[in-house]
Amino acid sequence: MNEDWFKMNVPMKLKKLLDNIDKQFKSNTGKNIFFDGIQDSLKFIPEAVNSIEKIGEIDKVSENILIDYITNKALQEFCRINQYYNFNKQAQESLRAIYVDLFSKIKTHNNSVDTISKVHYESLTMWLRETNAFAENIYSTQEENVEPVACSEYSHELQIELLQIDIAQLIEPILDIGCGKQGNMVDYLRNNGLEAFGFDRFAFESSFLTQSDWFEYDFGLNKWGTIISNLGFSNHFQHHHTRNDGDFVRYAKTYMDILNSLKIGGRFHYAPDLPFIEQYLDIGKYAITRKKLGDYTFKSVIVERLL
Ligand SMILES: C[S@@+](CC[C@H](N)C(=O)[O-])C[C@H]1O[C@@H](n2cnc3c(N)ncnc32)[C@H](O)[C@@H]1O
Repeated sequence: MNEDWFKMNVPMKLKKLLDNIDKQFKSNTGKNIFFDGIQDSLKFIPEAVNSIEKIGEIDKVSENILIDYITNKALQEFCRINQYYNFNKQAQESLRAIYVDLFSKIKTHNNSVDTISKVHYESLTMWLRETNAFAENIYSTQEENVEPVACSEYSHELQIELLQIDIAQLIEPILDIGCGKQGNMVDYLRNNGLEAFGFDRFAFESSFLTQSDWFEYDFGLNKWGTIISNLGFSNHFQHHHTRNDGDFVRYAKTYMDILNSLKIGGRFHYAPDLPFIEQYLDIGKYAITRKKLGDYTFKSVIVERLL
């Protein structure tokens, strides 16, 4: 969902509520949900309380729009803090249920706003603990704020350089995995007349960008001429490979699904490199080209499917 577009197109009466929700998120930005003093740190701000009081006046459809908006915004904020958080469909549904519960508590007026706020943030902490158990081990209970684990979107120029792309040589169709919200590379390739598509868990949906998780995306078989993923899939695979509780088997299976979705002669361009799995690829079936990238500690890789 493109937030700006969404806000421009919601009914007027919801706009004010959305603005206040945005302010609430802003006030919570960077706060550590595992902090021992969470009760004083994460609180509803007056504007949010004000909006909360109006929730009883809105119809069911508008209420669902608000809940979807908040759920999506919360997911983005969690992933902004730590790009390695992973929220599957079930996790997203249970997060939505937390907001449904919040709205219903607000409407029934049985508890004070402070009590509702306390219970709400406790539910969020529990949800994060259940869905991404590693988080509790990396964030101290003594720190009020957390440092985000950087995750950016890059220009097409930089991606072309990092991924060793020569656009005259690209085989179509092209798929960008973890293309970013805007799909900069997809946009660039399409502007150059190439048939390109992308997906990302936070992509702004269009006829060529899809919002999807790479564990849920259907890559197909013998389908893509070129697949690219800049600091996306392989970066997360590498992260899981180094974690004791990492989901590395699932990543390895998806990596093979990606390679099997290439046409014969098709190529997968990605960075960083994944030497721990690349070494096991059948050299009769795949040709691997690695390139050192200036001062970066990682390499960029092209895997070509030969058979
Ligand atoms: C460092 S950014 C790179 C974006 C883009 N490739 C670029 O170079 O501009 C990594 C991207 O991977 C996406 N991502 C992370 N986990 C994902 C998942 N499980 N499924 C789909 N996309 C994911 C993030 O939303 C983010 O946009």
